[in-house]
Amino acid sequence: MSKKKTLAEKADKHILYQKSVQTADTEIEFVLQVYREINAAEPEIFREDFCGTALLSTEWCRQGNDYRAIGVDLCQDTLDWGMKHNVKPAGKAIAQRVTLLNENVLSVQTEKTDIVCAFNFSYCIFETRSLMRQYFANVRHSLEEGGLFFLDLLGGTATTDIVEEERPIEDENFTYIWEQEYYNPINAHIECKIHFEFEDGSRLDNAFAYSWRLWSLPEIREILLEAGFSNVRIYWEGFEEDDDPDNEYLTGTGEYGEVTEIDQQESWLAYIVAER
Ligand SMILES: C[S@@+](CC[C@H](N)C(=O)[O-])C[C@H]1O[C@@H](n2cnc3c(N)ncnc32)[C@H](O)[C@@H]1O
Repeated sequence: MSKKKTLAEKADKHILYQKSVQTADTEIEFVLQVYREINAAEPEIFREDFCGTALLSTEWCRQGNDYRAIGVDLCQDTLDWGMKHNVKPAGKAIAQRVTLLNENVLSVQTEKTDIVCAFNFSYCIFETRSLMRQYFANVRHSLEEGGLFFLDLLGGTATTDIVEEERPIEDENFTYIWEQEYYNPINAHIECKIHFEFEDGSRLDNAFAYSWRLWSLPEIREILLEAGFSNVRIYWEGFEEDDDPDNEYLTGTGEYGEVTEIDQQESWLAYIVAER
């Protein structure tokens, strides 16, 4: 007699990941808005570093016929998954404008692009200034004049805590769990994991594991400038009071604006935009 599979056994970890931590439409909207504001021009070629399943590259090419994307990732299996589940289902017209390269972002040579982005902190895998500078210099080399490099970074007073945070995903049958299990203040090395828990009580433990350095905004800014970028801007999420009178906290608006000074928070996600 065959045993009925649990929800965890039936799940696809890339789908769970995309539903939990990626919002391709709002991220591409933000990238486009900032590029248009800074350059008063329309970008066309987008490079997604550490592209994984190429969700952003696909979304980029949905913007119109002139939009092309290049995704770069070391893992061929993940690229294949992205081609099958994101790129091809978007339709032939879009798919033919997405190129996926199985290469190392430290050394990849691509045609010059208007935008390079590295989201979800993947670049924090480079734990020394010299490796980070090598990566940033390689990105700068492949940017067009006026080109912009977009990164994100997490921080806040709680980022060095050993914690497990749960977030039920709206309209889905699972909860996303972010575990920060190690932090070494000597070298700022952190180890984090993503787990998923399902409505039937089953779990997908260690679906993804990350070994990063917890970089700070001033460090990243300095290394970008050392690598030759001409200017670095920081974008922060706006806040507003909640409708709920019992909620003493401010709620994020989802809209990001450029800032030069900000109050520290328990946890934050900032966007960094470096101008070639
Ligand atoms: C956290 S996932 C990022 C997925 C997606 N970009 C996102 O925003 O959520 C990290 C990806 O980086 C890739 N990766 C790690 N080191 C790399 C390198 N040196 N060059 C290219 N890809 C790399 C891994 O294969 C993995 O798919």
